[in-house]
Amino acid sequence: MQDPFRTIEWKDNHIRLLDQTLLPREERYLDIYEVDELCSAIKKLAVRGAPAIGVAAAMGVALGMLKAPRSDFGAIADCFRALSSQIAATRPTAVNLFWALDRMKSVFDANIDKDLNQIQTILIQEAVSIESEDRRLCVRIGLAGRDLFQDGDVILTHCNAGGLATAGYGTALGVVRAAFEAGRNIRVFADETRPLNQGSRITAWELMKLGIPVTLITDNTAGALMQAGEITKAIVGADRIAANGDTANKIGTYSVAVLAHRHEIPFYVAAPLSTIDMKLASGKSIPIEERDPMEVTHIFGVSVAPRGVSARNIAFDVTPNELIAGIITEMGVARKPFENSLRALFV
Ligand code: MRU
Repeated sequence: MQDPFRTIEWKDNHIRLLDQTLLPREERYLDIYEVDELCSAIKKLAVRGAPAIGVAAAMGVALGMLKAPRSDFGAIADCFRALSSQIAATRPTAVNLFWALDRMKSVFDANIDKDLNQIQTILIQEAVSIESEDRRLCVRIGLAGRDLFQDGDVILTHCNAGGLATAGYGTALGVVRAAFEAGRNIRVFADETRPLNQGSRITAWELMKLGIPVTLITDNTAGALMQAGEITKAIVGADRIAANGDTANKIGTYSVAVLAHRHEIPFYVAAPLSTIDMKLASGKSIPIEERDPMEVTHIFGVSVAPRGVSARNIAFDVTPNELIAGIITEMGVARKPFENSLRALFV
């Protein structure tokens, strides 16, 4: 089945992306011509999800370089560096953003002898390749993981690791989708995922568009359903996976993993290799974004807390590797000990 939407694309020298802040009420595409607009779209989660943020970062560099000064190479290189730093400062946790910026830099460095028009074209081509590769990788992740899910499985997922968190098809939801497309009789419970409700607004919306049976629950409900034997597997995406398998993902993922462990339910992570940060030995060094407390005290602009109350808005948590049954990538499923199995995926 075709994707029912396009997360992000390069279109006539600008970026077009589906504004995820408006879902599910409205399907509106943003046409982005300035890097400042792209950075605010990333910060406010109009485009979100680790792989999609990586694509946005790469396209942002290509977009900004269209306005590079037509002077000497030094000025062009300064422009490239400034754009990369600006985009790198948008969100700290999803490593795909930094992976994509590094990849754009390698291409830039390899073509410094070309004239500006050629460099601009090459950077656009690279950003577009990152987008199209990402969708293909997600399909491969789906195929690598689908046989972990069987007829009758009832699968819990948290946040959104679907087509909208990637260039298309999705990681965790890509695996669910591949199992469903293989004819498996499966159902999904989607955590609503406070504070920004990626589960209720986006995951439920995507699964309904795909015709995959989904039931929405509050974040507090997962434990009771596991206790009642109503959940058989759990799968989530990742924003950054350390070399030992510790996995940063949306806040609340750790709680789901602990609950799954308590109830002996396999807990899987699905992500492309670009989400694995082999430079970090463990999850302790993963930078965790903390966002505006307003996202906690308000829902869609409406206050749900007393005025002036203190609030914290930690956007991600780290699930220790021992709670993870397998990490599903485009190169296959890594199992414990992850130090060895993840490294083997890169050779
Ligand atoms: O804050 P968000 O919506 O960008 O957080 C997204 C997640 O935590 C996803 O689960 C993760 O990026 C995996 S996306 C395939």
